[in-house]
Amino acid sequence: MSNTPDRRLARCHNIDDLRRAARRKVPLLIFDFVDGAAEDEVTLARNRNGFDRYQLVPHNFVDVSEIDTTTTVLGRRVEAPLVVSPTGLPRLVHHTGEEGLVPAAGKHGIPYTLSSASSTSIEAVANLSSGPKWFQIYVWKDRAIVDDFIDRCKGAGYDALCLTVDVPITGNRERDVRNGLALPPKPTPAVLFDMLCKPTWLWHLKTKPEFTLANLVGRVEQDTSASNLSRYTEEQLDKSLSWDDAARMKERWDGPFAIKGVLRAEDARRAVDLGFDGIIVSNHGGRQLDHAPAPIDVLPEIVAAVEGRAQVILDGGVRRGTDVLKALSLGATACMAGRPFLFGLGAGGQAGVERAMEILKGEIRRDLMLLGCPRVTDLGPQYIRKVG
Ligand SMILES: Cc1cc2nc3c(=O)[nH]c(=O)nc-3n(C[C@H](O)[C@H](O)[C@H](O)COP(=O)(O)O)c2cc1C
Repeated sequence: MSNTPDRRLARCHNIDDLRRAARRKVPLLIFDFVDGAAEDEVTLARNRNGFDRYQLVPHNFVDVSEIDTTTTVLGRRVEAPLVVSPTGLPRLVHHTGEEGLVPAAGKHGIPYTLSSASSTSIEAVANLSSGPKWFQIYVWKDRAIVDDFIDRCKGAGYDALCLTVDVPITGNRERDVRNGLALPPKPTPAVLFDMLCKPTWLWHLKTKPEFTLANLVGRVEQDTSASNLSRYTEEQLDKSLSWDDAARMKERWDGPFAIKGVLRAEDARRAVDLGFDGIIVSNHGGRQLDHAPAPIDVLPEIVAAVEGRAQVILDGGVRRGTDVLKALSLGATACMAGRPFLFGLGAGGQAGVERAMEILKGEIRRDLMLLGCPRVTDLGPQYIRKVG
């Protein structure tokens, strides 16, 4: 029996299996960049453990012969309450990068969020699928860049924007420091040896066009190498973001707009007062401030503060359908996930991303049936209880 990539992916039964499959194919330097988080990775662990404090309580004698996982997120109908979180430089994980991620999301009817730090341009990504597409904005000192992004997204037909507010500076990700992840990389001998053991990844690195931060090309004169663009990006992160800036961006876009990185009820309330349509409860997957709370822990207070005036989306730690059901029972409209789809990408390109989506959608469907709730939009407090 041949061991084709599809057969190997079929043996991945959950997101953790895809994570292990990615680890076998992607060099440690890159795997740790994806898998790792800030400092002691307390928040990374908390993002997962937080879900364990909740129980799902099934309702019996409910007709679950038809299950409906569709809902509407920031104005577009989606096939499941899932959104692909923005992740920079996915071409490091697999040579296809966004070309593996975006068509998979389109096929599965879930929104794809393109990172400002993408390796494929806003316009090229728009042509990769007809599915819902969001664009993520970092706050740059040069506000002309932000204006340019917003105008280009309008021109390319994006459905929504999200403004990431938790990155005044990059978090202290010690796995990356230890491994020598820099642009250009300075891997330790052990990390270099591990890289040499991944010949397919290396071959693609050497034979495919050099990757770049596609949306910034033209902003930096002469040296458009990834290392120069990355330095430019770090320098451009604005540490003085104000609510006025956010309001100005909202006005320029004039469409569905979410704020990503909210962990406090009063920030959520303020964003909603300014007319933002979505509050993404997130700690950046534990990659920024270690010891920040898990999104699931602050979700109830944020939902209460928003009072139904905007959609609340949970981002971080989602690995199972039951996680999604818990977040929705606590009042979220949908969940975002980053690493699960990058693990799929690393394990098998687009087919691996699709496997991750199939797994999560399949779990959501089965778990709804087991919970006795035929529609995701009916999830609510009657299905959940907190323990401990
Ligand atoms: C490799 C990687 C790159 C990321 N790049 C970005 C980015 O460019 N912009 C952003 O807003 N968030 C970025 N994030 C954070 C994700 O959008 C998301 O908040 C996080 O992955 C959620 O946690 P999860 O991976 O447990 O689902 C990145 C995360 C990872 C793992």
